[in-house]
Amino acid sequence: MPMSTETLTLPVLDDAAIAEVGFVQLPVDPTLDMFAEIERLKKEKNAVLLAHYYQEPDIQDVADYVGDSLGLSREAAKTEADIIVFAGVHFMAETAKILNPNKTVILPDLNAGCSLADSCPPDEFAAFRAKYPDHIVISYINCSAAIKAQTDIICTSSNAKHLVEQIPDDQPIIFAPDKNLGRWLIKETGRDMVLWDGSCIVHEIFSEQKLVRLKARHPDAPVLAHPECEEPVLRHADHIGSTSSIRRYAVENPATEFIVATEAGILHQMQKDSPDKTFIPAPPDNGCACNDCPHMKLNTLEKLYLCLEYEKPTIEMEESLRLRALKPIERMLEMSEGVK
Ligand code: 13P
Ligand code: SF4
Repeated sequence: MPMSTETLTLPVLDDAAIAEVGFVQLPVDPTLDMFAEIERLKKEKNAVLLAHYYQEPDIQDVADYVGDSLGLSREAAKTEADIIVFAGVHFMAETAKILNPNKTVILPDLNAGCSLADSCPPDEFAAFRAKYPDHIVISYINCSAAIKAQTDIICTSSNAKHLVEQIPDDQPIIFAPDKNLGRWLIKETGRDMVLWDGSCIVHEIFSEQKLVRLKARHPDAPVLAHPECEEPVLRHADHIGSTSSIRRYAVENPATEFIVATEAGILHQMQKDSPDKTFIPAPPDNGCACNDCPHMKLNTLEKLYLCLEYEKPTIEMEESLRLRALKPIERMLEMSEGVK
């Protein structure tokens, strides 16, 4: 019979120990119905579970909202829950905390970082910015609070083009940290932006050569790609956009097969939307056939359950940093009203 945690005396957890490993580390009864327990805890604690499309399917299925970075930021900005459980990576949970200083924001595994965010160290970025004093800074949301605090407008892949198009033509722009998204924006908008040299390990792994071969075997399958991919992959795409736009495109397009060049977690919702269509992950340029983000996949259903139970680990932030990081996020939300 499943053991109920209500009958257990919970051990007192040491914050320092959690900080060291990054998550609550306790054995979980393997017979426990994780879905029922997570639902129970969400209700009892007035917690909302927000999940990104790159989370494992079980986590997506138990979430209250699954979406892209813009959708998740909007949900975080309007939630009335007392606790936000963020099933995503650190910069996403941090954004939720910046928007909700008085709420408890928890992340199942604090080690769930992001190679793209890590490719932009705050001190080096400050020195880079100082070289272009008349430029405004637009930063992709995949960056730390310390980078957001040095930014004028935050963007996501859903609204980046829309935001850049609102900047007066004579206003020079720095775009950070993703050079691939930046290059795509330069091409799309005709704006000459100064780019920070950052990138995402997951989206840079796709192989153009293998993609071309795959296309030859599936000539009717549109290629859907995320703008974090490199140009040699993007040039073969029929649609380039955020995870939510890739999902929408596959629903609206009559094709029955699609090649998808982004993290494989998105395939779960695409397959649920269109059970009769076939989604083929774009081939990576490594030995295995895996397009998983190692950071996103650090979160598990067990860690999610434990973090809800213990309300740890929490995202904490110094107030002056939070206030500086808040401004460009608010600007993004105002400037992208109506963007899907
Ligand atoms: P979106 O879901 O906003 O397109 O972002 C993709 C991503 O890489 C998140 O880490
Ligand atoms: Fe970061 Fe890339 Fe993982 Fe998204 S997929 S969290 S950009 S490393």
